[in-house]
Amino acid sequence: MRELTLLQPDDWHLHLRDGPALASVVHDAAKRFARAIIMPNLTPPVTTVEAARAYRDRIFDALTASSSQPRFEPLMTLYLTDNTPAEEIRKAKASRFVHAVKLYPAGATTHSDAGVTDIAKCMPAIEAMQETGLPLLVHGEVTDPSVDVFDREAAYIEQTLRPLVQRLPELKLSMEHITTRQAVDFVSTARENVVATITAQHLLYNRNALFQGGVRPHYYCLPILKREEHRQALVQAATSGNPKFFLGTDSAPHETATKETACGCAGCYTAYAGIELYAEAFDAVVALDRLEGFASRFGPAFYGLPVNETRITLVDNAWRAPLEQPFGAGRITPLRAGEMHAWRLQT
Ligand code: DOR
Ligand code: ZN
Repeated sequence: MRELTLLQPDDWHLHLRDGPALASVVHDAAKRFARAIIMPNLTPPVTTVEAARAYRDRIFDALTASSSQPRFEPLMTLYLTDNTPAEEIRKAKASRFVHAVKLYPAGATTHSDAGVTDIAKCMPAIEAMQETGLPLLVHGEVTDPSVDVFDREAAYIEQTLRPLVQRLPELKLSMEHITTRQAVDFVSTARENVVATITAQHLLYNRNALFQGGVRPHYYCLPILKREEHRQALVQAATSGNPKFFLGTDSAPHETATKETACGCAGCYTAYAGIELYAEAFDAVVALDRLEGFASRFGPAFYGLPVNETRITLVDNAWRAPLEQPFGAGRITPLRAGEMHAWRLQT
């Protein structure tokens, strides 16, 4: 059996939800990751430092409700709106527990209705981010319904991100959950303060997974899975050792019933195997020696945080994913439900 020991990883993009759902999923992440950037797309969204503080307290409460929990630090984010004042950005930076601000183009994805309708309206806030060094995390897709859903990321780069980084060259910017060769190229050739997170599902699957023998709603997330050539570009970037690319699961649980329906929600639940899936993707291209940089070192460097001192060990001892698991009063169906995982976390 092969064994792989890594500095403990962090998840730089995680949805924990709220209330009983939060209590159901937070342990999966906390068993694997020391810290996570917590997405603010609740209803209502987390738009202020005070709301972020209250949400952070609820996450701690959910963690301590189960006594045997390891230490886990939620790194909070604010949800950017057309009206976020520059002053709130300065408050966020001063709080020391808000580590970034998330930009959702209005209507791009789950709970993005309160998002940004026009980036021009946010310039005072984004200028304050450049000034204070608080990173801007971007869901990089245009929302114009006439643009093909598979082209929305590439279009957003040209319409919004390229002009933005030109105008604010010192802005710390992370393009979240990139899915295309165009995004890899944009980030690779930008200045060093422009980075990207990559999910496990985008490293392991192409868009065929959505239609394997029928419609597969649990493989539907946004940005949507792309063609094989894009998956290969992402694998190349993730395993290149380039510190601009690092781990963000985008684990995004939705109740089974809200995905298996006529108009299903976007989001893949991956936190239950949040590091194991990446080990499989790196192993597939004989690059396990690059996993520690991607999972444990490059994220902290971008966020100006120390790397973790603890370690985790993975073994290549296959196990079967559950068909479902509890999610508040309901159930969630994880990505790869009922199928095998190659790597197992040793506890
Ligand atoms: O698939 C997704 N699910 N993409 C997102 O951007 C949001 C997320 C969610 O919150 O469910
Ligand atoms: Zn997300």
